[in-house]
Amino acid sequence: ALERTFSIVKPDATKRNLVGQIVAKFEEGGLRVIAQKRIQLTLAQAQTFYGVHSERPFFDELCEFMISEPIVVQVLEGENAIARNREIMGATNPAEAVAGTIRKEFALSIGENSVHGSDAPETAAEEIAFFFSGLELVG
Ligand code: CMP
Repeated sequence: ALERTFSIVKPDATKRNLVGQIVAKFEEGGLRVIAQKRIQLTLAQAQTFYGVHSERPFFDELCEFMISEPIVVQVLEGENAIARNREIMGATNPAEAVAGTIRKEFALSIGENSVHGSDAPETAAEEIAFFFSGLELVG
């Protein structure tokens, strides 16, 4: 089915000017950017967005990293967009990512892993609504 998912180009990637190369991977993989903006998160926004990870040992490091540089937040649309996006990104840990994936080509480490993508339909809807109004989604 036609789906929407939420995507972030993370600080390690914006810093290295990789936004276009990452968007090209999504487009080549059959996804369409239907909303996109460059922002810099506040600490409070990062902590809220990653709230599900608040008890993890890497939570503070994750939030500090996510506010360290601008990010690009996006909504991607396509057939099975959530699963498709996860295939295009590759494994969270770049050492485990398949050749040709974004994380294999660009990620620096499990934390500085260049992109985020929603993991399920419910989280996709929540994450899209956290950053975008309905009027900003132009399919
Ligand atoms: P993301 O999809 O943005 O969701 C949670 C993030 O936590 C994940 O990508 C990783 O970048 C990050 N993460 C997961 N495990 C670790 C770890 N061991 N150390 C630092 N960051 C991590």
